[in-house]
Amino acid sequence: MMRVPRMFFDYMDAGSWREQTSQANIQDLSNLLLRQRVGIDIGERSLQSTMLGQVVRIPVALAPAGLTGMQRADGEILAARAAEQFGVPFVLSTMSTCSIEDVASHTKSPFWFQLYLFRDRQFVQALLDRAWAAGCPVLVVTMDLPVMGKRLKDVRNGLTVPLRVNMSTLLGFASKPRWSLGMLKTSRRGFGNVLGHARDVDDLQSLASWSNRQIDPGITWDDIEWIRQRWKGKLLVKGIMDPEDAASAWRHGADGIIVSNHGGRQLDGTISSARALQRICDMIAGKIEIHVDGGIRCGQDVLRMRALGAHAVYIGRPYLYGLGALGQAGVRQCLEIIENELDLTMAFCGVRDIRRVDKTILLSQL
Ligand SMILES: Cc1cc2nc3c(=O)[nH]c(=O)nc-3n(C[C@H](O)[C@H](O)[C@H](O)COP(=O)(O)O)c2cc1C
Repeated sequence: MMRVPRMFFDYMDAGSWREQTSQANIQDLSNLLLRQRVGIDIGERSLQSTMLGQVVRIPVALAPAGLTGMQRADGEILAARAAEQFGVPFVLSTMSTCSIEDVASHTKSPFWFQLYLFRDRQFVQALLDRAWAAGCPVLVVTMDLPVMGKRLKDVRNGLTVPLRVNMSTLLGFASKPRWSLGMLKTSRRGFGNVLGHARDVDDLQSLASWSNRQIDPGITWDDIEWIRQRWKGKLLVKGIMDPEDAASAWRHGADGIIVSNHGGRQLDGTISSARALQRICDMIAGKIEIHVDGGIRCGQDVLRMRALGAHAVYIGRPYLYGLGALGQAGVRQCLEIIENELDLTMAFCGVRDIRRVDKTILLSQL
C-alpha cells in the first residue's frame, strides 16, 4: 500500500507531458541484452570504484531531488544517512526541504551539493559559500532547467505554486496518518535552503513567488565559468544530452558531466539518457568523467550503463520509493538490492571487476 499521499507520490513518480522520455529511459535499458558466459573463475568479484576520486562501494550515487522531505519527513537527512552508511555519495538538491547545514549536522561524511543557477547571483554565491563551509567536495550544477517542463499530474493534483489545497487534498493527507504525523512533528516542510536565506523570503507565500521569478532562462557557458572561478572543489555539470554540450562543459572547466534528461521531467519527446550517453561517449570519452542517470531500476541497468561508457550512475526514483515506504532503512535496502543484482549479474557475465566492464558484455545495441 502506498504510504505517501497521491499528490507527492505523483510529483516524484511522473515525467513531463506524455511521459514518453521518462518511459524511454527505462525501456531502452531493458532492451539491451547481456552476454552470458561460463567457465570463467568469478569466485572473487569487486564492485568498488571511484567517483571523481572518491572511493565508492558501488558506482551508484543518490541523485538530487527537490522536496525529498515530502516523501517522508526529514527525507534528505534520512537519505544522506543511508548513503553514508552504505558508502556512496548523496547529492543534496538546492530545492531540498532540509537545509545544507541541517544535513551536515546530521551526517559525518561529506555529501555533494546540487546548484540551480538562480537569477539572484548574490544568493547563488551565498549557497556556494554555505556548501563549501559544510564540507561538500563536489558541486553539481544543473543546466537543464532554464524553463520548467510541465508535469500534468501536478496540475491535476493541485501541486502548483502556490499550493492549491482542496477537500480531496486534505482527505489524501488524512488517509496517510503515519506520513501526516511525521509532517506535523517536523518543521522542515518548505525549501530549507531558501527560507530565511534569500532576500525577502520569510514565509511560504513569499517563497512561492520567489521560486517562480528565480528560474533563469538566460544561463550560458559563461555562467559555468563564473562558477568555476568561485568553486574550489570538483565541478560536475548535470543535464547534458548532446555531444556538443558535453564538449562545451569540458572546455569550460568541468571535471565531469552527468548525462541526464532530468528523469524525463523536462523535455518530453527527447531520447533516453542511455542513447544520449552512447552518442556522447563516442565524442569525448577519456577527456572528462562521464556519469549518467535516468531509468536505472536494477543492478543490471548499472552494468548496462557501464557497458555504454558511463563511469558511474545515479538513481532518483528507486531510492525515493524506498524512502517513502520505509524511511532510511528503505533507502539502504534499495542500495543493497541494486548491489546484490549488480554482483550476481557480473558473475553471470563473467566479469570480476566492475572497473573492467566494457561493451563486450552486450549482445544488442540501442
Ligand atoms: C522528485 C524528483 C525531484 C527532482 N529534483 C531535482 C533537483 O532538484 N535537481 C536536479 O538536478 N535534478 C532533480 N531531479 C532529477 C534527478 O536528479 C535525476 O536526474 C532523475 O531522477 C534520474 O532519473 P530516475 O528517477 O529515473 O533515476 C529530480 C527527480 C525527481 C524524481
